[in-house]
Amino acid sequence: MPEIATPATPGPELDVVDLLLEQHARIEQLFLLVIGGTGEVRRDAFDDLVKLLAVHETAEEEVVHPLARDLPGGGGDAMVDERLAEERQAKETLQTLIAGGVDADGFDTGIILLRDAVLTHARYEERYEFPLLRQHVPADRLRALATAVRAAEATAPTRPHPSAQTAKGNLAAGPALAVIDRVRDAMRKPSES
Ligand SMILES: [Fe+2]
Ligand SMILES: [Fe+2]
Repeated sequence: MPEIATPATPGPELDVVDLLLEQHARIEQLFLLVIGGTGEVRRDAFDDLVKLLAVHETAEEEVVHPLARDLPGGGGDAMVDERLAEERQAKETLQTLIAGGVDADGFDTGIILLRDAVLTHARYEERYEFPLLRQHVPADRLRALATAVRAAEATAPTRPHPSAQTAKGNLAAGPALAVIDRVRDAMRKPSES
């Protein structure tokens, strides 16, 4: 049987749209774990969700939306403004949930509202924004942006040790905000391609 050229390894060839789509899927899974889970499983899943949402939405705010704003045929400003408003709203809801902790009275209702808002927001990005990027931004640029987003993600602190959490299961808002700042800083450094 003749040798067939092996396909490019998927890892390094992923572009920023692939990466963000993967994160959307992971975000959806984590919401399921938080909503369906109890005790430590729920707490850990919520912690992971907070971190991933912070990294993901910040990368979109810093890289993807500004890029999409200038593309032809996208309804540009209006579309991007709507996405940014949704992200702002989601962050506020998230901060409220973080402040109360997973055992707070309103958590169950709040997390479902947040899930619905975040997933609807993600569908809009997938339907209106990501196709524009694929259509108008050179493939090597989209791949370079994936590398930049991954590097920024790597600066995010890992889940705090269980002993660092209060008995209430509160997650401090501090680490989530630190993630946002670090990702923002990393994204603003001029990226090499
Ligand atoms: Fe987003
Ligand atoms: Fe997104």
